Amino acid sequence: LLYTHNKYTTMESKIIFALDVYDYNTAMELARTVGEKVFAIKINWPVILENGIKIVRDLSKYANIICDFKLADIDNTVSMITTKVKEYGGYGIISHSFTGLNSLKAVVKSAGNMKVFSVVSMSQESYLDNITEELIKISREAGVYGLVAPGNRPYYLKKVKELSEGLKIISPGVGAQGGDIVNAMLLGSDYVIIGRSIYNSLDPLGTLEGFSSSINNKLNK
Ligand code: XMP
Repeated sequence: LLYTHNKYTTMESKIIFALDVYDYNTAMELARTVGEKVFAIKINWPVILENGIKIVRDLSKYANIICDFKLADIDNTVSMITTKVKEYGGYGIISHSFTGLNSLKAVVKSAGNMKVFSVVSMSQESYLDNITEELIKISREAGVYGLVAPGNRPYYLKKVKELSEGLKIISPGVGAQGGDIVNAMLLGSDYVIIGRSIYNSLDPLGTLEGFSSSINNKLNK
C-alpha cells in the first residue's frame, strides 16, 4: 500500500460522500476537493463500469474508499470480488445479507482488514422489510463491521439501531432522497451517506461543510 489510512486528517467527520459519476477526471476532482472533509468516499457501479477497479487505488489518494457493490451471490463469487477490492486498496465493501450466512461469511473472510457493511434495510420504500430482524442476526453472526440502514425512513432506522448491538450504522437517504441529517444521527446513524446533494451542487465543498456544521450545531449542544 502506498498510503496509510490514518494520514487522512478528518476521521472524525460523520459524512460518507457517495461519488456516483462516470467520468474519471470529474471523480478525481471531486475526491480531491472533499476527500479531507469526509469520513470516506463511497463508490458504486457507475464509476467502476466506466473506469474499472483501478480507480479505487487512485481515489484512495484522497480518502478511504468504500465499494458499494451490494454483493448478492454465492460464496465463491463474492470472495473473488472482495479479494479484488482489497487488492486495490479498498477501505470497505458493502454486501447484501439476504443471500444468507455462507455468502456473508465469505465476504468477511476475504475482506481481512477491510470493513464489511451489510444491507439490512434500504432507503427505497419498496424494499421488502419483513426480514430485517433476521438480516441483522445473520450480519452479526457473520462478523460484519457495520450495517446499512435508511436515513430517510425513521421507523426502520430506529429498529435497526435497537437491534444493532454496537455495530456501526451507515445511512443513505439523506438529502436527495428526503432524509434529514440531524434526525438520522439522532436516531442512531454513525455516518450518513450523501451523494447528489453534494456532487450536483454548484459548490460541493460548501454544501458538504453546510451538512457538517448542521450536525455540529445541533448535536454538540
Ligand atoms: P444520494 O445521491 O441519494 O446517494 O445521496 C445515495 C447513495 O447510496 C446508495 N444507496 C444505498 N446503498 N443501501 C445501500 O447500501 C441503501 O438503502 C441505499 N440507498 C441508496 C445509492 O446507490 C447512492 O450511491
